[in-house]
Amino acid sequence: MSRRRIQIFDTTLRDGEQSPGIALQPHEKAEIAEQLERLGVDVIEAGFAGASPGDFEGVRAVARAVGRPTVASLARTVLADLDAAAEALAGAGRSRIHVFLATSALHMEKKLGLEPQEVVEHARWSVEYAASLVDEVEFSCEDATRSDPAFAARVCRVAIEAGATIINLPDTVGYALPAEYAGFLADVRRRCPEIRGVTLSVHCHNDLGLAVANSLAGIQVGATQVECTVNGIGERAGNASLEEIVMALNVRGDHFEIETGINTAEITAASKLVSERTGYVVQPNKAVVGANAFAHEAGIHQDGMLKDERTYQIMDPVDVGVRMTLPLGKHSGRHAFARACAERGVELEGEELNAAFRRFKERADAGGAVALEDVFEEVRA
Ligand code: KIV
Ligand code: ZN
Repeated sequence: MSRRRIQIFDTTLRDGEQSPGIALQPHEKAEIAEQLERLGVDVIEAGFAGASPGDFEGVRAVARAVGRPTVASLARTVLADLDAAAEALAGAGRSRIHVFLATSALHMEKKLGLEPQEVVEHARWSVEYAASLVDEVEFSCEDATRSDPAFAARVCRVAIEAGATIINLPDTVGYALPAEYAGFLADVRRRCPEIRGVTLSVHCHNDLGLAVANSLAGIQVGATQVECTVNGIGERAGNASLEEIVMALNVRGDHFEIETGINTAEITAASKLVSERTGYVVQPNKAVVGANAFAHEAGIHQDGMLKDERTYQIMDPVDVGVRMTLPLGKHSGRHAFARACAERGVELEGEELNAAFRRFKERADAGGAVALEDVFEEVRA
């Protein structure tokens, strides 16, 4: 079966860093970028070079730290931003300026104070100029999903004529529903068939908890790049989570028939590093990278897992870089308890096993973690 290869555009260091309270130092950005390279992402958006001297240095540090991935910097349609992006990216193996400009009536009128025709002109000159500075240009219609599709298509055509080879249609405020987003992408592409000749990118925010679902819906109607962040960090409720998208594409390969360049065994290391450097703790029940993502607490589940892991597990934790052990708690069964004892070198059988298990349950019922060593001591005393 031949699979379509899509590009993973990681924006942990740009949109992810826009999470309240995160300010990564250039050396921290470089360290995370090196892990993203090991993870196998295709593009690293390193920051917004024109935003501050610190961000400029961050983009520069990433451009120097990695070899294979393309390095991108965000820029408004402002000369100083475009120049700063190009200068910061000078050391990159392959450089991309990511130009963005809002296309929804609301943003154009209230935020930018621009007429639609002025937006079209800004898109044209800024992309043309950016294309003269770096290897490639991505153009994003900010707030695309709340834009008139005919106008978004018009701006996309102008951006492509001016030299953009990647067109991004973001759900900036996380407003779209999956079928709606897929329909919007298809509509814009029908009105602007030139999009078929370039990379079509999706970029979804998680305000309604739909960022991953929307991204997958976009991929299904032909998007060839997906923008996402490690642990789903980002503005407000965050961006689409890289690990969830990649594992959905992998686990449900039968459905999607898509491949990425991601080495999934590096996912957990990437998640831990991003969490440590940003200070953003991963919720325990977070899909794929949460501490409980592969934890089976109920006795019936643990028993099933010990007989055949496929009973309660749709992906192998080893595939995402996790070494798995069954947690023991008040819902655990005898089977899992005996296995945990054996893992600690204590083989229990018959009445000794029954007594130890009873004691363990009493302690677990009282709440908190139970040290098996204490249980052994009590039973053998
Ligand atoms: O959410 C968004 O629209 C963005 C753009 C700058 C691409 O992050
Ligand atoms: Zn965004």
